[in-house]
Amino acid sequence: MESLKTFKNRKGPRTVIHFMVLYFNNCCIHGFRYLTRAMLMFFEKFLWFTLLVVSIYFCIVVCLSSIDRYYTKSTHIGLERNYIFWNTTLPSLTVCPMDRLNISIFAEYCRKNGVKGSQKDILWDFLENLANSTYINFQNIPESDQIDQVIKDIGLKAENYMQLIYNLTYDKTYEPNINERIRCVDGSTYIHVRQVLTEWGLCYLGNSMLTDQYSSRYFIFGESPKPNKYEQELSLIQCQVGSFFQRDTQFTLRGFSGPAIIAFAHSAFEVSKVDSNSNYAEDGIMYDLSTEEIVAEENLEHETTIAMRKCRFYHESNLTHYPFYSRNICQQECRINLAYRICKCIPHFYPNRIANPKKVCDYKTLRSCFPRHAKFFLKLYEENGNEEKHSGCYCEQNCLDAVVTIKSIDPMANAKHLLQGIGSQLTVKTWPQTRLKRQVIFSLTDLLVSIGGTAGLFLGFSVLGFVEVLYFFTIRLIWQILGYSL
Ligand SMILES: *[C@@H]1O[C@H](CO)[C@@H](O)[C@H](O)[C@H]1NC(C)=O
Ligand SMILES: *[C@@H]1O[C@H](CO)[C@@H](O)[C@H](O)[C@H]1NC(C)=O
Ligand SMILES: *[C@@H]1O[C@H](CO)[C@@H](O)[C@H](O)[C@H]1NC(C)=O
Ligand SMILES: *[C@@H]1O[C@H](CO)[C@@H](O)[C@H](O)[C@H]1NC(C)=O
Ligand SMILES: *[C@@H]1O[C@H](CO)[C@@H](O)[C@H](O)[C@H]1NC(C)=O
Repeated sequence: MESLKTFKNRKGPRTVIHFMVLYFNNCCIHGFRYLTRAMLMFFEKFLWFTLLVVSIYFCIVVCLSSIDRYYTKSTHIGLERNYIFWNTTLPSLTVCPMDRLNISIFAEYCRKNGVKGSQKDILWDFLENLANSTYINFQNIPESDQIDQVIKDIGLKAENYMQLIYNLTYDKTYEPNINERIRCVDGSTYIHVRQVLTEWGLCYLGNSMLTDQYSSRYFIFGESPKPNKYEQELSLIQCQVGSFFQRDTQFTLRGFSGPAIIAFAHSAFEVSKVDSNSNYAEDGIMYDLSTEEIVAEENLEHETTIAMRKCRFYHESNLTHYPFYSRNICQQECRINLAYRICKCIPHFYPNRIANPKKVCDYKTLRSCFPRHAKFFLKLYEENGNEEKHSGCYCEQNCLDAVVTIKSIDPMANAKHLLQGIGSQLTVKTWPQTRLKRQVIFSLTDLLVSIGGTAGLFLGFSVLGFVEVLYFFTIRLIWQILGYSL
């Protein structure tokens, strides 16, 4: 170092080499200095050089594998067994009445729009079937020239189908008479019920952890539901929970007057699924269920990204049609995209309040295009002989969820009398003794320690060593260039 003259006296490559030699002699990585020792034999230098290359190689390989572990295997699902401390959320019920429109609201609508006589019956039949339609029964929507005529007369366009059905439906959760109201009860406890827009049309959902964004009014008009003063008068809870010391816990969702209902029991963190587990009943249905929750450690959300944990929280939506995320909602969006690809339009029962609304199918397209592909739409894949078709759509799991197992489903004899109307009952008789927990097992701190340890093991490198590299090639280089010798 003493021998090193100023930059001005030396020229080009020699200076650079000299500076590197200076660095090698001083740097913290063991082994470098042997490369520049003048008195060592060529063979010794070669040996040191090989060792250095091998060390650096393995250091990089091990560091890369730590980084890979951080990005792909940093979370896992563990099992918790201290069940006496938990509250478990009961599953949700979604019930769809099979009689859809309200005859007096419909009569009022016909009076205002001048629909009379046989036209009125035709329109009623058409709208009632349209409101009751989903992937399995689009072919039941009637088709005739008279229908075309009425639709033309009242100026009904496909994109307004759902609005009109909503306007003609009476939301019975707002019924003043408590015995007629659609309500969710357990003894004297009332549980919040709301009207929701599902792939089965307008249905009622009770005991759900989802926010009010999941409601028919939000989906169709983009507004939160009107405050329900009748519900608020009662002692109301959002969701019923049970713990290990409770015996059976149950609730009923009732107040349906119609001839029949279709019911779905599902996780309280999810929405109902059109393709499975629906139960048709003319009386009532009794569910006996067991449920096991999947929870997440508190630090999961902030310490990991979605790609790392391979699950999404409710508010982490990347969907186009829905402002929140759940796995079944994501699959609904898959169906929207698939329908749009195959039939060039989407059914009326999907929210379409987006920047570029998709074309909504008129009833003729629903009849002509959808029944042929019904299985593909419902299952999102199709087997045709040896050929398999996939929708190419991938939905992440929910970070918070529950696995609901149906132990028994029984028709409820005498339900009309017991419940004063039809409805369904959900009971949980046994409480889970295990639950799953998403945990972070390899955090950013672990990654730093791992990389630091690897660099230390192979090269004797440290944070201060790294600072020294920066120092050598910045401040010290500038001094050198400015002509100060060190
Ligand atoms: C469980 O629920 C009860 C009453 O519903 C509540 O008092 C208790 O704090 C809850 N426990 C936990 C761990 O959330
Ligand atoms: C139809 O709606 C009216 C309120 O607009 C309500 O009073 C009546 O009970 C409803 N009818 C049925 C069958 O739900
Ligand atoms: C509604 O659709 C379901 C399923 O296809 C059917 O069983 C029911 O009878 C329909 N309801 C009416 C009123 O047509
Ligand atoms: C439904 O009702 C709303 C408000 O009451 C109204 O603005 C809208 O035009 C109605 N839609 C149809 C299709 O009649
Ligand atoms: C949402 O994210 C998933 C992966 O996390 C991706 O496959 C999907 O295409 C995304 N959806 C949209 C609408 O961007």
